[in-house]
Amino acid sequence: MTGWRTSPGRTTADWYREFAERELAGVSPTYEALCRGVADDEALCARLDTLPEPKRQPNLLLATVRYLGGPVDSWPQFREFLAERWDEVAATMRERSTQTNEARRCTALLPALAALPQPLALLEVGTSAGLCLFPDRWSYRYTGDFGEHRVGAGPELSCAVTGAAALPDRVPDVAWRAGLDLDPLDVADDDAVRWLESLVWPEETERFGILRAAVAIARADPPRIDRGNLSADVATLAAEAPWDCTLVVFHTAVLAYVDGPGRHAFAESVAALESTARTTCWLANEAPGVLPQTASLTAAAQRRFVLARDRVPIAYTGGHGDSLEWLAS
Ligand SMILES: C[S@@+](CC[C@H](N)C(=O)[O-])C[C@H]1O[C@@H](n2cnc3c(N)ncnc32)[C@H](O)[C@@H]1O
Repeated sequence: MTGWRTSPGRTTADWYREFAERELAGVSPTYEALCRGVADDEALCARLDTLPEPKRQPNLLLATVRYLGGPVDSWPQFREFLAERWDEVAATMRERSTQTNEARRCTALLPALAALPQPLALLEVGTSAGLCLFPDRWSYRYTGDFGEHRVGAGPELSCAVTGAAALPDRVPDVAWRAGLDLDPLDVADDDAVRWLESLVWPEETERFGILRAAVAIARADPPRIDRGNLSADVATLAAEAPWDCTLVVFHTAVLAYVDGPGRHAFAESVAALESTARTTCWLANEAPGVLPQTASLTAAAQRRFVLARDRVPIAYTGGHGDSLEWLAS
């Protein structure tokens, strides 16, 4: 993943250049120009290198400048802002992290959730502000060879589908929902929401609209979010879920931030939950290879996530929930 960590021998300049080429080209010309500028600026790369490695990431720098009200539409002005306010920028980058919260990823979860015995108790690890905890509060528009399939009521999330996804006729019945995060964002806090908004790329107006809608949904019914580490604390929170519900432990775009032993400990915790009498489901929507069961799908995934149900890959999913390719089972 170019989005968050350098690999050995890869410089900060390489990181920004590759991020521009692979992630931003064709999606965000504004940010592409800035990241190319950073990559060519030795002095700025040297300043970034004074930060711990995970804090040098392009998305974090870009969001920080927007959050601080800096210019992001001109490389010379962006550079000048960084030169003048570097201490403030560096402090913000040290303090904050990229906790993008993409409610549209509910489009990937919905078919799997609706197929489970209802009602559900949803437990999301790495929940950020908890915006993916409301799959029952949206209307969904799935499009594909079959035409269009609509389900649910509320603000709309759209998703392009290929493959034989069993698209549901109703949204799931959610009886309980809770999240766990190392650093929860409080959706009621305007500053936290402004940080989430700063993480959206300038051209992504649809994504921005979904974020606003998701914040309104969550503010109307603030979710319970516990501070904790998914590697150690999932069982404690799961113990509070009602026993007459299917317990769904899920996560999207999280485990890439967790080291190998941490992932292993989490998988062991989920296995312990599965060994109880309660019906339990584990849904993982992560980059291929983050779970060993999805490693062989890296090339085919074409930079999408892989959705796995109880360790079995069932779909490729667009990074922001825009597409769903169901795998033949
Ligand atoms: C990229 S965000 C994804 C948020 C949300 N799952 C989504 O898809 O919109 C990753 C989140 O995982 C959290 N996280 C990372 N490592 C964690 C850990 N070990 N335990 C709990 N949360 C963690 C981060 O704080 C962050 O909020």
